[in-house]
Amino acid sequence: MHHLPRKAVVPAAGLGTRLLPATKAQPKEMLPLVDRPAIQYIIEEAVSAGLDDILVITGKSKWSIEDHFDKSFELEKHLESSGKIEELDLVRSISDLAELHYVRQGEPLGLGHAVSMAKQHISGEPFAVLLADDIMISDHPLLSGMMQLYGEQQCSVLALMEVPSQDISLYGCVSYEPTENAEIVRVTGIVEKPDPDEAPSNFAVIGRYIFTPEIFDCLDKTKPGRNGEIQLTDAISLLLKQQPIFGYVVKDGRFDVGTKIDYLTAIVELALVRDDLGPQFLAILTEIVSRFEDKPSARTPRERMSHAMSEIMRKLEHKPKSK
Ligand code: UTP
Repeated sequence: MHHLPRKAVVPAAGLGTRLLPATKAQPKEMLPLVDRPAIQYIIEEAVSAGLDDILVITGKSKWSIEDHFDKSFELEKHLESSGKIEELDLVRSISDLAELHYVRQGEPLGLGHAVSMAKQHISGEPFAVLLADDIMISDHPLLSGMMQLYGEQQCSVLALMEVPSQDISLYGCVSYEPTENAEIVRVTGIVEKPDPDEAPSNFAVIGRYIFTPEIFDCLDKTKPGRNGEIQLTDAISLLLKQQPIFGYVVKDGRFDVGTKIDYLTAIVELALVRDDLGPQFLAILTEIVSRFEDKPSARTPRERMSHAMSEIMRKLEHKPKSK
């Protein structure tokens, strides 16, 4: 009998160089999106798709991830004695979220290498992989859809998103055959970060996967590829030679919070949908945007500075001269 995956792997051992200097001494996965670290959204997503055994791949300077999901006796005692019951419940709910396990990737030798660290813990079961810096904000629950597809096909499933051709060189990219369902394709090939004119399609692989356990043998056989890293894409390409792989297509709602622009956008999106913050934040945002639209000259920091200087000069010129 086939089972649905019940374990998830969350690789979080990358260096986060695109967010430096913020990530010099703290993990990018712990940077806050509104009021919780990015990785908490990932763990919550896994749990709501029915995956409550979660292995986080950590590395150097990543202790704060473990601390965040651990019990915090001192903080709990303090909140309890000061009657902050709402905050106490909030803090407790984090450590009760899921059964979390950790394994360290000694050196960040690539995403494929990070996933291979999970072999022992997964012990021959199908499992999901959620990248810790890919945040999904959508009414359409991607991971549950992928789980359902796995249940029907008993094959590995990759999350795919169509991207503009000039961006395809940032992703793994698949060739595919359509199926009668527009959301589902059959993957026929995969290549890491192709040049736009050599890309087999505009379908990019994004940070959600479901794998059959055979991916580990493929990872064992995968030699360092692009940038000298063990690429997950290369192992998927080997797996595809042995068994069918399906793609589950999403249209939007994905934010790579390991980049500055998506990090900012995700915060805005997440704040706007919150009942406690959304209406007030929308009013503030609207005011800021209209201020910037009214004064195109105040758009860049340099222009803002020069605008501010001329305002000061104007005020000084009109100030009555002291005798
Ligand atoms: P990224 O390539 O986005 O992460 O990997 P990075 O290496 O931290 O990014 P930059 O380019 O330096 O900014 C995707 C995911 O895989 C994890 C990362 O933590 C991220 O969640 N990863 C990557 C590992 O766990 N180990 C690795 O060796 C590489």
